[in-house]
Amino acid sequence: MKKFWSIITVIVTVFAAVASFAVNPNSSAQAASNNKKVLVVYFSRTQGVYGGRLKRGNTARVADFIQQKTNADTYEIVPKKAYPKSYDRTTQVAQREQNQNARPAIKGKLPDVSKYDTVFIGGPIWWGEYPMVVRTFLDKESGLNGKTLIPFTTNEGSGLGNTRQVLKKQFPKSKVRQGFTATGNTVKNNPNRVRSQVNSWLDDLGY
Ligand SMILES: Cc1cc2nc3c(=O)[nH]c(=O)nc-3n(C[C@H](O)[C@H](O)[C@H](O)COP(=O)(O)O)c2cc1C
Repeated sequence: MKKFWSIITVIVTVFAAVASFAVNPNSSAQAASNNKKVLVVYFSRTQGVYGGRLKRGNTARVADFIQQKTNADTYEIVPKKAYPKSYDRTTQVAQREQNQNARPAIKGKLPDVSKYDTVFIGGPIWWGEYPMVVRTFLDKESGLNGKTLIPFTTNEGSGLGNTRQVLKKQFPKSKVRQGFTATGNTVKNNPNRVRSQVNSWLDDLGY
């Protein structure tokens, strides 16, 4: 399965890298913005799988690290219909949703993003992109346009995929800053390393 994602990765990452270079990546030299109100939005599937052994999904753990460093509010995107416990079944469902450009429903109330200056938006990479349920969130939150947006992902080879491009396209008035990604395996096996990577990325961004 890993080899497979690596091939997908080469295609997606080369494409994303070229595109992101073309859209002028944000410099890290920005004034500190600690007084900004921050929201961390994330979707993470793996929670509760592996026989319930994994208490927190990979992306959820990265969201926690960001929250702890920035003192942000958080919002977890929970799909109305849970994804299958089986990894393979989930890849099939996810691919179908992507092919259909679906917008799976979100459970519960959405946050009021107008209160925030910066919104981090995280998810696992599914088929090179944000899961479609994250796209549901983006479609419903037109108030994100004009906010500072920062993508983060976990992956097994595809990095940030096309997440930055998706945000830039959907929210042209927003400043989309340099994102963060880690592999799910590193989050699982070496969370302290990921935490310190998150902290130095946020230091560079001024958070
Ligand atoms: C449906 C599905 C599709 C995936 N597609 C990709 C992909 O295109 N590229 C990649 O690097 N990893 C892919 N992965 C691996 C996940 O991005 C990775 O395991 C992630 O850390 C899971 O995060 P979570 O625990 O927050 O759900 C996929 C996983 C699933 C379940």
